[in-house]
Amino acid sequence: GRVVVLAGGLSHERDVSIRSGRRVADALRGAGVEVQIRDIDAALLPALLADRPDAVFPTLHGATGEDGAIQGILALLDVPYVGSSPAACRLAFDKPSAKEAIRAAGLATPDWVAIPKTTFRDLGTQAVLDAVTAALPLPLFVKPARGGSSLGAAAVRTREELPAAMVACFAYDETALIERHITGREIAVSVVDTGDGPRALPAVEIVADSGIYDYAARYTAGMTEFFAPARLDATEMKAVEDLAVQAHNTLGLSWISRTDLILDDAGTPWFLEVNVAPGLTETSLLPLAAGAADLDLGVLYRDLVETVAA
Ligand code: DAL
Ligand code: MG
Repeated sequence: GRVVVLAGGLSHERDVSIRSGRRVADALRGAGVEVQIRDIDAALLPALLADRPDAVFPTLHGATGEDGAIQGILALLDVPYVGSSPAACRLAFDKPSAKEAIRAAGLATPDWVAIPKTTFRDLGTQAVLDAVTAALPLPLFVKPARGGSSLGAAAVRTREELPAAMVACFAYDETALIERHITGREIAVSVVDTGDGPRALPAVEIVADSGIYDYAARYTAGMTEFFAPARLDATEMKAVEDLAVQAHNTLGLSWISRTDLILDDAGTPWFLEVNVAPGLTETSLLPLAAGAADLDLGVLYRDLVETVAA
């Protein structure tokens, strides 16, 4: 069948998306699938209406790609796609909303506060600092409520570091999510569903050379050490895989997702966020996880498009 891979878009993660799209298109072609790759713009609707592909594989990261907007268009056109419903994307992409749903389901997620830029401006720096430090113990982690690839995210060890971290964060989104920084091992668990229900791929452990898994550490080969599978015992492995599948189900996600989490020293997995369009570049986590499971990427992606098209 014919598949359209969507890549590019206008989010801060455009470059990442283009890299993901190329990799997915190459892998699908290697598995014998006819693939077209295209960017998203005003010509998308007429093109999809004229071509009517069997399925679309959106590898669009960040806003528009993961906030449900593109999924809304695909749903409207009734084109099957490898991804979650518009409503599920909207919920999952907004980190405070996702965390609230996860906590309501009884799963662990670090305590947080969400502070809009307008509040920061209206109350002033000192009042915001007082409120945040009264609510949460240091150290903290600041990130855009909606975003990805660590853009605008920063670890905050002291009260004095907080204002600059928040201002940097507001360059990427209107709301800052400020979280307790849980110490432990950084783990990512991808979930795929090729027709038999969601299943976890082997957990991947991330050890950034600099200690921080930022944008450069994500997309520069050699800047991060990955352990795929993660160096976990059977109990820990089950705990992190269960969390990822539960997060996928709790948020109503479909076909593909990746949950990022911290496994603390007591063995508790703490949900940080879920990605509805996980990175699929040469240095991304889901391809590493597939490799650890001896899954051929082309076959996995082909199975996904065939499943959604069925
Ligand atoms: N937001 C990037 C693409 C990721 O989560 O992999
Ligand atoms: Mg993310």
